[in-house]
Amino acid sequence: MHFLSALMAATLAPIGILAAPAGNAVSVPQFHHLYARENLCHLASPPELCTPDDSITVEETALRAYQFYRAFVVDGDPRTMFSLIDNVYQQHHPGYASGPQAIWPLFCNGRPLGTEPSTRWCFDASTNMSYAQYSTVDRWRWVGGCVHEHWDQGERIPTDKCYELPTNVTR
Ligand SMILES: *[C@@H]1O[C@H](CO)[C@@H](O)[C@H](O)[C@H]1NC(C)=O
Repeated sequence: MHFLSALMAATLAPIGILAAPAGNAVSVPQFHHLYARENLCHLASPPELCTPDDSITVEETALRAYQFYRAFVVDGDPRTMFSLIDNVYQQHHPGYASGPQAIWPLFCNGRPLGTEPSTRWCFDASTNMSYAQYSTVDRWRWVGGCVHEHWDQGERIPTDKCYELPTNVTR
């Protein structure tokens, strides 16, 4: 499960930090420690995809939607990005086939698309849709805790209805 592996990564991350001088200790895992830009274009396919799980809650889906936005738009982290996409990924962009494999060559290089202040994200819990606004607006439908479907033609990011993450989620 992705969330567990994210927790494990958070647990492992401080190991390297322990070697730093005392005073630099990080007590709370933060998202920017989980993500780093990574170019994975030497791989022919995404290293990990998302396995849909009907027990994933709306709350966890919202958290994943934020992780997906961070990985895709801000951090350029294709490993995390694709670990949140299922093996269907129904594509509504003309000219592109469905399935994560079809978009892997576009995003494997981990090129960030914007900073967090210069872009926006939104998760609408009433529809299980998430949005990202950078030079365009993308919309994704989440099923079983995974990105399942994508649109990017004439989309608008909602200005209300956006899920508020718990305040203990460090940005
Ligand atoms: C959204 O997803 C949750 C669980 O992931 C599900 O219980 C709920 O019915 C879904 N809502 C809609 C509108 O599809």
